[in-house]
Amino acid sequence: MKRIYLDNAATSYPKAPGLGDAMKHFVDDIGDNVNRSGYDSLAADEMVFETREMVAALFNFPTPENVIFTLNITYGLNFVLKGILRAGDHVIVSSMEHNAVMRPLGQLENQGIKFSRVACDEEGHLDVNSFDQHIQPNTKMVVLTHASNVAGTVLPIEQIGAICEKKGILFVIDTAQTAGLLDLDFERVKASALAFTGHKGLLGPQGIGGLLLSKQVAESMDALVSGGTGSLSEYEEVPPYLPDKFEAGTPNLPGIYGLRHALRYIDAIGLDAIREKEMQLAAALLDGLGDFKSARIAGPKGVNDRMAVVSVDFEGYDNAQVAYYLDKHHGIRTRCGLHCAPSAHKTLGTFPQGTVRLSPGHFNTQDEIHQTLSAIRTVLRELENTWR
Ligand code: ALA
Repeated sequence: MKRIYLDNAATSYPKAPGLGDAMKHFVDDIGDNVNRSGYDSLAADEMVFETREMVAALFNFPTPENVIFTLNITYGLNFVLKGILRAGDHVIVSSMEHNAVMRPLGQLENQGIKFSRVACDEEGHLDVNSFDQHIQPNTKMVVLTHASNVAGTVLPIEQIGAICEKKGILFVIDTAQTAGLLDLDFERVKASALAFTGHKGLLGPQGIGGLLLSKQVAESMDALVSGGTGSLSEYEEVPPYLPDKFEAGTPNLPGIYGLRHALRYIDAIGLDAIREKEMQLAAALLDGLGDFKSARIAGPKGVNDRMAVVSVDFEGYDNAQVAYYLDKHHGIRTRCGLHCAPSAHKTLGTFPQGTVRLSPGHFNTQDEIHQTLSAIRTVLRELENTWR
């Protein structure tokens, strides 16, 4: 049975062509550490800096040394939230946030940090006009996902960034679902920090992500992890400058090398072309799902202001069973459940049953979407008599 992978919101698959070979080349033929050795280890040093420059260029960010590599976007968000917020601070988030934001905030609540959750509408849209009313005198930070990992809804980061700048509030953006797909200009959206991951839209490997930090955040944020950096080794204090301040220990060099390879691929194809293709697949999927009476799309019904992340609640069916049948009988891989974002599901009206999330990616074809729609028809027919 041919496999159809529709879980690119969880991790992209396949990856940028040649990614595995590139990473193998690093491990087998380069292999140096960074900042550590007296012998000529410039190959790794230069490679890492070049990758910082490429990430900076992707987000039109002027200071590559303020691009910090982390294990993944969750670590990046934890670094920012826990490195900046202190007792008495107030934070604003949307009701579409992932647990990568909500769980650290839950921990921080125990340390005297409060947060407000701005309710989005039933498609996940955030109302910019009523946003101001959530701002308090002690509001230190707004954290917003660029797009929902459940419904694909794109949030109005440019307008919220403008409000944050006017009010002197730090603005942190989670680009888990948009990096490599949507154009995002760090300065234009008035970001203070941007978290990204390498393994989704950037088509890179798992285990590499990072942060872009404004000067203000870079200076005021504490380093959650400290240790050897290969620099200022005569001192036991954390180096005050970036990237060293936030990059203790040996980084994931094969991962950075893989990310560099993937970024080159993305650059060659172009964000617009990548996005256009994915949205054509999403359009076909949304259009076809419209034919099923029981398929309720959780999120935007059309292709505007959304990513190719399509969540479906099959009303009258057990969504987990639909996903299981799609996988076992048709080789179609989706992600079912709450997607680590219970707040988003409550907003969309799909809590606790969750949804079947279909997220086409760069390498899917229209034919695969048609096969998926046909498989859904068969599965619903099969399950009709067992569940109702
Ligand atoms: N956050 C990822 C997802 O939405 C893993 O599936």
